[in-house]
Amino acid sequence: MPIEPSNPPLVPYIPSTAPFSVEQRAWLNGYLAGLFSNAHVAEPVEQKKKLSLVVLFGSQTGSAEKLAKRIGADSSKMGFAPKVLEMNAFGSLDWAVEERIILVTSTWGEGDPPDNATAFWAHLNSPDAPRLDKVHFAVLALGDKNYSDFCGAGKKFDTRFEVLGGKRLIPRVDCDTDYEKPALEFISNLWNPLAATSHQGGIISASTSTEPAALEPEGYSKQKPFPARLLVNRKLNREGSGKDTRHFEISLEGSGLTYAAGDALGIYASNCPTLVAHVLEALGFDGEEGVKNPTGMEVSLRSALLSSFQLGNPSMEFVAEVQKRSEDADLKSLLDPANKEKLDKFVYGKDILDFLKSYPGVRFTPSELVTFLRKLQPRLYSISSSPKAHPGQVHITVAVVRYEAHGRERKGVCSTFLAERADGATATIPVFIQPSHGFRLPSDGNIPVIMVGPGTGIAPFRAFLEERRETGAKGKNWLFFGDQKRSHDFLYQEELETMMKNSHLHRLDTAFSRDQAEKIYVQDRMLKQGDALWKWLEEGAHVYVCGDAKRMAKDVDLALHQVIQTAGGKSEEEARNYVAQLKKDKKYQRDVY
Ligand SMILES: Cc1cc2nc3c(=O)[nH]c(=O)nc-3n(C[C@H](O)[C@H](O)[C@H](O)COP(=O)(O)OP(=O)(O)OC[C@H]3O[C@@H](n4cnc5c(N)ncnc54)[C@H](O)[C@@H]3O)c2cc1C
Ligand SMILES: NC(=O)c1ccc[n+]([C@@H]2O[C@H](COP(=O)([O-])OP(=O)(O)OC[C@H]3O[C@@H](n4cnc5c(N)ncnc54)[C@H](OP(=O)(O)O)[C@@H]3O)[C@@H](O)[C@H]2O)c1
Ligand SMILES: Cc1cc2nc3c(=O)[nH]c(=O)nc-3n(C[C@H](O)[C@H](O)[C@H](O)COP(=O)(O)O)c2cc1C
Repeated sequence: MPIEPSNPPLVPYIPSTAPFSVEQRAWLNGYLAGLFSNAHVAEPVEQKKKLSLVVLFGSQTGSAEKLAKRIGADSSKMGFAPKVLEMNAFGSLDWAVEERIILVTSTWGEGDPPDNATAFWAHLNSPDAPRLDKVHFAVLALGDKNYSDFCGAGKKFDTRFEVLGGKRLIPRVDCDTDYEKPALEFISNLWNPLAATSHQGGIISASTSTEPAALEPEGYSKQKPFPARLLVNRKLNREGSGKDTRHFEISLEGSGLTYAAGDALGIYASNCPTLVAHVLEALGFDGEEGVKNPTGMEVSLRSALLSSFQLGNPSMEFVAEVQKRSEDADLKSLLDPANKEKLDKFVYGKDILDFLKSYPGVRFTPSELVTFLRKLQPRLYSISSSPKAHPGQVHITVAVVRYEAHGRERKGVCSTFLAERADGATATIPVFIQPSHGFRLPSDGNIPVIMVGPGTGIAPFRAFLEERRETGAKGKNWLFFGDQKRSHDFLYQEELETMMKNSHLHRLDTAFSRDQAEKIYVQDRMLKQGDALWKWLEEGAHVYVCGDAKRMAKDVDLALHQVIQTAGGKSEEEARNYVAQLKKDKKYQRDVY
């Protein structure tokens, strides 16, 4: 029998007769006591079994993982017993018992689940899929509206859970790149419906649910980037190369920021001033007009277009508004949902300036314009240094994006910002660390590693090699690298050759695609070395792939399956299972973009 305090406290107090579970009551009283911090509430806590809650995440670069952990931490305070797991660890759960499951997933590839969720997705679609009739679930989906299958993976899990009998606690929330606010709202909306599933009864009053605290810790972060100085901007391709890939060294002195090999660096770049000038000219503005930036601060239109809003890849809201204002019949027909594919093709490669020029009669006031623009997002770069080898610094390896489209030269926002506009004496680069828990060296330095990283995919492997050198790891290192021409595009050639000479890098297989008539790619080298690769795999090697997601990573994945079949003597299905097991054991990790 719970005991009521002998002297009624001077603060609002939830008595044991109120319709809450013991844990909820204890938490609420603690919360109220906190609000009236000079008062004392002697609320005894009755020991009862806590309600179990499973939080499953699918995450490639750590955002969904961070949110899942936040749900776990908050749920503990609410009296639940949370288990936070990546989706592929589904085998460690007792599916006959679990009743409350929250799924948090991002979307990768083209509407696909992230790597650490693919096995779970396959399982849910297999004959072994569990019935979920007892399960109450909710889905928080992360994505990016720049991709046509927005939050595709979250949508798939949401539908599948329902088909398997699950009961939705609250509607799925699909978050665009600015996920913090909707994600926190989703989290605070969970507690009442979750509490209502308790057999102990009790519903937490909405007015007393946790006030969502900021997601980010103290110090420099994605929300508060560190203004870093650029130390080195060096071209890695030789004169005459068709590519411009740069090595950047950035100072983290004074930031307090730390990172591990495998993490990414986030960078907030600004748009090219020439493009901004052309947009202002097309609009007929001088740039001094006042507008609100996405944080609600009053700034000049020029400053907002430089630093806060995306000028490439216009939002559908902008395109629809241009149609409304121009009354253009062709654009109207393209905006018909039945013509989505044609619309995507029409918009591909166009920016805001293209639209302003193509529909010159369309007019916006400065304030109207910015409401139709997307917020400029930070870009991520796989870190190419080990902090042990370069204390106080972070290095990245960036392919500078320049191309022509619709008769005009185009520049990638961040890669050209770094290459062309970040060196000034007073210039700084706003940076943050994006930890990537899913892309890590084995903790045992004796384990061999196989790294496949053509082009800028070399970046994290330079970091891995440095890290293993600095820590004295004895395990063997094998790198597959490829690019266009050996004479021009052999990134970090000297460093790699020195590592070979020093027996730190044990094997280096290169594939220079344009040195001969037919293309040779890294996967061709993998197939050629199938027997040795298989031997390394059987010795327990971890396999890492970094670089282009659209083509390379898929082809390399296929080659890995082929090696297991041919050199390992496995059937197609056995090879699939072998790779699935590698993924589950975290022995096959990818950092692809
Ligand atoms: C986890 C992660 C790690 C990454 N690591 C690296 C890395 O180590 N090194 C690296 O260089 N990049 C890396 N990237 C990619 C990087 O984040 C940026 O996407 C890249 O630098 C381009 O950004 P940008 O701002 O320069 O170009 P943007 O302004 O974003 O322009 C790029 C866009 O331009 C369009 N485009 C590009 N070329 C053409 C063309 N020929 N024709 C038509 N349209 C075209 C495409 O829509 C493309 O998405 C990584 C991405 C992620 C998610
Ligand atoms: N998500 C994206 O939009 C994205 C992702 C990665 C790269 N890129 C673009 O690619 C440019 C450079 O990227 P990068 O330097 O990292 O390298 P990259 O262009 O991916 O090329 C590196 C090497 O990989 C080869 N390659 C091409 N197709 C391949 C395949 N299917 N399998 C294996 N190898 C393949 C290339 O050969 P060939 O070129 O001779 O065919 C080249 O030798 C950047 O400008 C960027 O815009 C875009
Ligand atoms: C190569 C690549 C492919 C992506 N594909 C999609 C997609 O198809 N649909 C979508 O909504 N978002 C897509 N995204 C955006 C991610 O889902 C989004 O950035 C998310 O916040 C990442 O979360 P994570 O860090 O938990 O993986 C893609 C991002 C990258 C880099």
